Amino acid sequence: DKGTYPYYMLKEIDEQPAVIRRIESKYISQEGNVHFDEKLLEQVSKASRIYIVGAGTSYHAGLVGKKIFEKMTGIPTEVVLASEFAYDDPLIEKDAFFIFLSQSGETADSRQVLVRVNEEWQKNSLTITNVANSTLAREAQFAVTLEAGPEIAVASTKAYVAQIALETLLAVAIGRYNQRDSALHFDVAGQLSRVANAIQTVVDEKSQIEKIAESNLTNTRNAFYIGRGLDYDVALEAALKLKEISYVQAEGFASGELKHGTIALIENGTPVLGLITQTKTADHTRSNLEEVISRGANVITITSEKLQRDGDNIILPEVDEILTPLVSVVATQLLAYYTTLQKGYNVDQPRNLAKSVTVE
Ligand code: F6R
Repeated sequence: DKGTYPYYMLKEIDEQPAVIRRIESKYISQEGNVHFDEKLLEQVSKASRIYIVGAGTSYHAGLVGKKIFEKMTGIPTEVVLASEFAYDDPLIEKDAFFIFLSQSGETADSRQVLVRVNEEWQKNSLTITNVANSTLAREAQFAVTLEAGPEIAVASTKAYVAQIALETLLAVAIGRYNQRDSALHFDVAGQLSRVANAIQTVVDEKSQIEKIAESNLTNTRNAFYIGRGLDYDVALEAALKLKEISYVQAEGFASGELKHGTIALIENGTPVLGLITQTKTADHTRSNLEEVISRGANVITITSEKLQRDGDNIILPEVDEILTPLVSVVATQLLAYYTTLQKGYNVDQPRNLAKSVTVE
């Protein structure tokens, strides 16, 4: 039931602080310990490599997860597109561990990889899904649930945030299991609570984002999201969200890579949305934004408080830098939502798309 909401998507965006809190209360004890099946932790902690498998938005959540896993666990982690990996000829190490990310747990591309994991490679696996009794949950060796509640809108929002929260908890639990300082010293409960509050601030200020959508995106044919590192990962998800519901031709791009060709597409007024939440790369992304401004682009910046400068457009409350995707993505979900609403399209039911994709 969408209650007083015009669309499920807006309801699901608004639910995200509650989703983070629900995940915290399910997986973190009073003392701040993270709870997963002991056998799961034992197996992943001795993996020589972790593969994260997903499609669409779940793949994008995997890109962020890779960086969190490597930081917390020290285990090399690779993220793969299910539809590609299903027919690739990868060199799988003996102690590989597979993590499947799937909101529905029914995506045929991901299942095809799981069939190979079970039959051909005989490796250990975990499915992280919103649907406890789904195919992927049943066919993997382990399963954990996202606790996001049913996601009805075709465009995935709260599942992405829930997936990254779960990846963070799992990475911290594995890192602690292996006595890694980066995980032992990370106050995951405190940091996720900060994230929940920060998302709340973003959704409370949605009318400002609505105005930015109206004056910059509603009347454009194309747009770019750019960023580096984790901001690049979010740029890919932000662009997918915008294109799938508003039909603006949007592209997520590594900001440093633009000048190697794609900058040719920048014309007078082309919207370029810059994500700037990482200290290490903020100045570089700012120079890349200067490059597109000098070609006439209409630049919109999304930055964290710490890195903000005069004239920035959307300022996000401060959270630990590795968790900024959880907050910045919400601003981009709202931009996609309002652009679509203003164009008069059905936000929840975009053309040509279904909620779960059960064909390869
Ligand atoms: C985008 C979207 C899709 C799904 C993809 C994977 O908003 O919803 O890209 O993320 O089809 O679906 P799941 O996570 O159910 O495997």
